[in-house]
Amino acid sequence: MESPREESDELYGQTHNFFSDELSRYQIRTDFVPMDEINSLSFKLKNYDLVYVESITNPTMKVTDLVELSKFCIENNTPLVVDATFASPYNQKPLDIGCSIVIHSGTKYLSGHSDVTHGMVAASSAEHLERILRMRTTLGSTMDPLQSFLALRGLKTLGLRMEKHNRVALEVAKFLSQHKKVTGTFYPDLPDSKYYDIAKKVLTGFGGMLSFEVAGGLDGAKRLLKHIKIASVAASLGGVGSMVSLPLETSHAGIPHAERLKMGINDGLVRFSCGIEDAEDLISDIEAALAMV
Ligand SMILES: Cc1ncc(COP(=O)(O)O)c(C=O)c1O
Repeated sequence: MESPREESDELYGQTHNFFSDELSRYQIRTDFVPMDEINSLSFKLKNYDLVYVESITNPTMKVTDLVELSKFCIENNTPLVVDATFASPYNQKPLDIGCSIVIHSGTKYLSGHSDVTHGMVAASSAEHLERILRMRTTLGSTMDPLQSFLALRGLKTLGLRMEKHNRVALEVAKFLSQHKKVTGTFYPDLPDSKYYDIAKKVLTGFGGMLSFEVAGGLDGAKRLLKHIKIASVAASLGGVGSMVSLPLETSHAGIPHAERLKMGINDGLVRFSCGIEDAEDLISDIEAALAMV
């Protein structure tokens, strides 16, 4: 029997890590460090010019201990850049914790309505900010007026939306963690999450993102997606409408199977972005779809 590695690498044509390969063209060397080594501070920081983390990882929902990591980076004079897209600024303020630069895909929670594509960056020092602004001017990555209007309008309801996302995701995660066809549920506010204690320390809410593994691997996951009605099957996240996707086919299609497995992303992992629908409706829809798996 062929191993899943061969099957999915063939299917998605990946034998190299696209991100490392691409950055090496600019003479930027990268190491992907497992979260446990980051949180235990056991990696060799002195070798790095920059540490770049997601504060909640996409799609495995691991949580970075930004309190300890930022202290470590400050002591070693190494800038710490944090992608806090999954948390949103409502649930986490990395600059207040001590991080150097925070970035957000504003396409997601900041705008909130899946109708605009943009990014945001904030820095703890004028020096970092000036370099970023110069680069923005050079690259021309400014938003047009309609995008700016939509982004600002979305921002006005960020708090209201995040309160609902936080509540709905916890309900959906609790439901999934009890379901017999779900073999693993990843959401940091579940008490048996490995990251529960760190999450309570670095986040004030846990967001609308979660992931889970269904029985039957990739086939099971595909069957589930086929039968889900409320959530759209889409690569984006963080909007008022729920969205569901398979990381294998979307965000992590650029990473070979063996590396994905090391990151905890198996072929049947499903990523779910809980919107602001009522939790009961999402749960009954997922329950009906799981019955078809
Ligand atoms: C955590 C995270 N950061 C950044 C991005 C990139 O966002 P954009 O497509 O808005 O550039 C994504 C996209 O999915 C994401 O999930």
